[in-house]
Amino acid sequence: VGMSDDSEGEFPPLSDLERSVADRLPPRIWSYIAGGAGEERTVEANRSAFRRWALKPRVWANVTTVDLGTRLLGAPVEAPFFIAPTAYHGEIHPDAEPGVARAAAAAGVVAAFSTLSSASLETIAAASGGGVRWFQLYLQPRFSVTRSLVERAEHAGYAAIVITADVPVLAVRDRQARGGFAIDGSVPVGNGADVMPPPRASEREGSRYRLRAPAETDWDILDRLSGVTRLPFVVKGVLSAEDERLAVEHAAAGVIVSNHGGRQLDGARASLDALPEVVAAVGERAEVYLDGGVRRGIDVLISLALGARAVGLGRPVLWALAHGGAPSVARYLAALGAELASAMELAGRRSIAEIDRALVVPVPDQGPASP
Ligand SMILES: Cc1cc2nc3c(=O)[nH]c(=O)nc-3n(C[C@H](O)[C@H](O)[C@H](O)COP(=O)(O)O)c2cc1C
Repeated sequence: VGMSDDSEGEFPPLSDLERSVADRLPPRIWSYIAGGAGEERTVEANRSAFRRWALKPRVWANVTTVDLGTRLLGAPVEAPFFIAPTAYHGEIHPDAEPGVARAAAAAGVVAAFSTLSSASLETIAAASGGGVRWFQLYLQPRFSVTRSLVERAEHAGYAAIVITADVPVLAVRDRQARGGFAIDGSVPVGNGADVMPPPRASEREGSRYRLRAPAETDWDILDRLSGVTRLPFVVKGVLSAEDERLAVEHAAAGVIVSNHGGRQLDGARASLDALPEVVAAVGERAEVYLDGGVRRGIDVLISLALGARAVGLGRPVLWALAHGGAPSVARYLAALGAELASAMELAGRRSIAEIDRALVVPVPDQGPASP
């Protein structure tokens, strides 16, 4: 699948990145990246939610420089966006996670890596060097395996454990199934033969649906894991104020408002629609991030105006990886940063701290806004 030949050529405008790789990856891999659960209502909702907010720029705000720098869990970073954890980079490009780690570290942005990475978390850490990296945890059927992953991540210098809460079982993903990509033991992972993907969703047996392996987990898992590591926890996959409060009660340092990029509960609300409620519930007690449908600099701007501290990027990073490996991921991160900086300048905001709630207004439902 190597496409590194392209890395020296033109990097496409962000509008064209997806299209530029769509028909060059094997359809099986493409269906895995692009697909969502069910009929992909939530995939669409994540995008359309951004179109329901308009920007209210200020002019002559004395913008001479724009500073994208911020802090995530105390670590200084160059931009308020991070690489969301996605599995199996080796199926997309031979540079795989170590290439993504190098690009992120060079750009000064946080990168989160999946339990189901193609490379081992130690190899990724070595490539990331001084970069800030987070480890995404899928709870394992055996707690000893979960514990060992967390201990290894701490030892390898990961700065946080991102624990994914929205995959008690993998959802039925029609497009991916049609494309013939199965998340099971057949796809090699770097973290060891005893590391398992989450169980598959309910399966039809005759006229009934039957749940597979019991997915019983409650919030006490966070307390149990606090005994294993001193790393902070970020709970990924929260869509309600209620769960946000529970995360904070169980000492999470952050939450990612997310529906897994529309790949889990189809019909779940858009991440952006859930953001204001979650931000209101948590106050200053934890950092709130968002992922799902973030594509352009203005999407970052809207998310931050609505209270996110940073946003995660899922599919776009994989498009860039497919386009030309690590160099293309670097160019993608630079392009998104440039777009955000430009949008901030046009909106009259010089720093991340100046991106406030006053920057966005709801798009009127019908007709012009009343005078
Ligand atoms: C191909 C693919 C693989 C993913 N693998 C994981 C994973 O292993 N663990 C996880 O927590 N989230 C995973 N996600 C979800 C992302 O972390 C993120 O929530 C989502 O992609 C954000 O939406 P976006 O793709 O619209 O940016 C995956 C997403 C995609 C597209």
